[in-house]
Amino acid sequence: MIKSIVLAIDGSDHAKHAQNMAIDLASKYEAELTLVHVLTQDHPSKEFARMADVEGLLDSKQPKVSSKEDTYTAVARFLGGVNEGKEAKVIALLGEQIIKNASAKARQAGVANVAAEIRSGDYANSILEVAKKADADVIVMGRRGLSNLKGFVTGSVSHKVSQRADCSVLTVK
Ligand SMILES: Nc1ncnc2c1ncn2[C@@H]1O[C@H](COP(=O)(O)OP(=O)(O)OP(=O)(O)O)[C@@H](O)[C@H]1O
Ligand SMILES: [Mg+2]
Repeated sequence: MIKSIVLAIDGSDHAKHAQNMAIDLASKYEAELTLVHVLTQDHPSKEFARMADVEGLLDSKQPKVSSKEDTYTAVARFLGGVNEGKEAKVIALLGEQIIKNASAKARQAGVANVAAEIRSGDYANSILEVAKKADADVIVMGRRGLSNLKGFVTGSVSHKVSQRADCSVLTVK
């Protein structure tokens, strides 16, 4: 019944909850797990800082980063080999780190078949493309993501994916 699971992760706490659920399902059903992360396009300083924070890429002893430049510098230092100001490179490296961390968690939990896709472009369309390619039985994602706007129950990406997917979509709270 569940042979292929696609997990969409954006680096948010919500996506971490979705990750736990997807890994649990994949190990119990011995399903293939495909991770997808779509690179951040809109250079949002607050969202970027949260992603980096959630992934443990910022030194907790330092004061919380307040400006975009500070965040990029801090993440660049952690990841190494990135010149300050090279936003696209840092975003790509952070994306790789998010996928690497999730793959490691899945393997530790005994999921034998883990694939990963890092894409760029429209978030929802990219997730839907990966789901089609993986012949997904279910897409697992957070109900909300990085922006965490109060007043909305569902984020725009999970809304669009739920509306358009050919398969079931599990939006995790
Ligand atoms: N860039 C992305 N790559 C992979 N998955 C994503 C991406 N953005 C969102 N998602 C998935 O969608 C879920 C819901 O995030 P969504 O972006 O819809 O909510 P939001 O950030 O709270 O609101 P919005 O982006 O609409 O302002 C996330 O938990 C994650 O599973
Ligand atoms: Mg979002």
